[in-house]
Amino acid sequence: MTVGAVTADGRARVLADGNQLPMLGLGVWQVPNGPVCVNAVRWALELGYRHIDTAQAYGNEESVGRALRDSGVPREDVFITTKFYPGHRDPVAEAEQSLRRLGVDQVDLYLIHWPQRGPTWAWPGMERARERGLTRSIGVSNFSAADLDKVATAGTVVPAVNQVQFSPFEDRRALLAACERLNVAVEAYSPLGTGRHLSDATVRRVAQRAGRTPAHVLLRWCLQHGIPVIPKSTHRERIAENAQIFDFTLSGADMAELDALDRTRGTDRALERGWW
Ligand code: A2P
Repeated sequence: MTVGAVTADGRARVLADGNQLPMLGLGVWQVPNGPVCVNAVRWALELGYRHIDTAQAYGNEESVGRALRDSGVPREDVFITTKFYPGHRDPVAEAEQSLRRLGVDQVDLYLIHWPQRGPTWAWPGMERARERGLTRSIGVSNFSAADLDKVATAGTVVPAVNQVQFSPFEDRRALLAACERLNVAVEAYSPLGTGRHLSDATVRRVAQRAGRTPAHVLLRWCLQHGIPVIPKSTHRERIAENAQIFDFTLSGADMAELDALDRTRGTDRALERGWW
């Protein structure tokens, strides 16, 4: 399987290290630890999701682990991402804590959540976490093209993934191109614009034309750009809806209309402004 390519069934992206990242995952940002999170993850696994995206900063890794165990889905069938909280110092020690909270021996992907105190200092610790088998793949999140260049130069391995906000309205074309040059897979968080993009007139028009929902259109737009998506929902019917994105195609005209919605001017930055 060619590195950087999407598998023939359209369900996974092959990372630079050979591991496969499922194109659809459930994101659990802002989902409180406890029954709400356990239910969302359990429903997603029942509905066929095989990819869950959490983080140390979300405080809900225990619930993700509980839902995974309760689901009866074999651990090896589910791709689990967590993220190093860069307010802490040691990615290895923090990964060990994540594994304990998740109740697993290894995660599939471990990301630096954002480049706080610079993009390179945590990377050697991320590489050690991978060498020790705490994670299969390592990557970053919220890194600009310039941040990535620094990590790629300083590190032994290049990040497999850069997870950023990506949508037709945040179409970071120059960042995507920079990632492709380095063979870093861009992964889209908040692909629905935390829900705000669902009511946009153009998105709704395209949805109507395609006979699909606005969420389908926004998620499918990412898939057709080769970008895995991790929409968040705590509602069973929405979690189900967001998974129905592999049975239709947006036309070239639909894609072009959506591409024109970008508000970032095709930036190579990951964020309009940092929160740290
Ligand atoms: P909820 O969790 O209450 O279902 P994003 O993934 O871009 O961060 O967007 C998540 C937001 O969009 C959440 O507020 C979520 O609400 C809402 N959402 C997720 N999927 C859908 C959907 N299919 N239809 C409508 N709203 C949705």
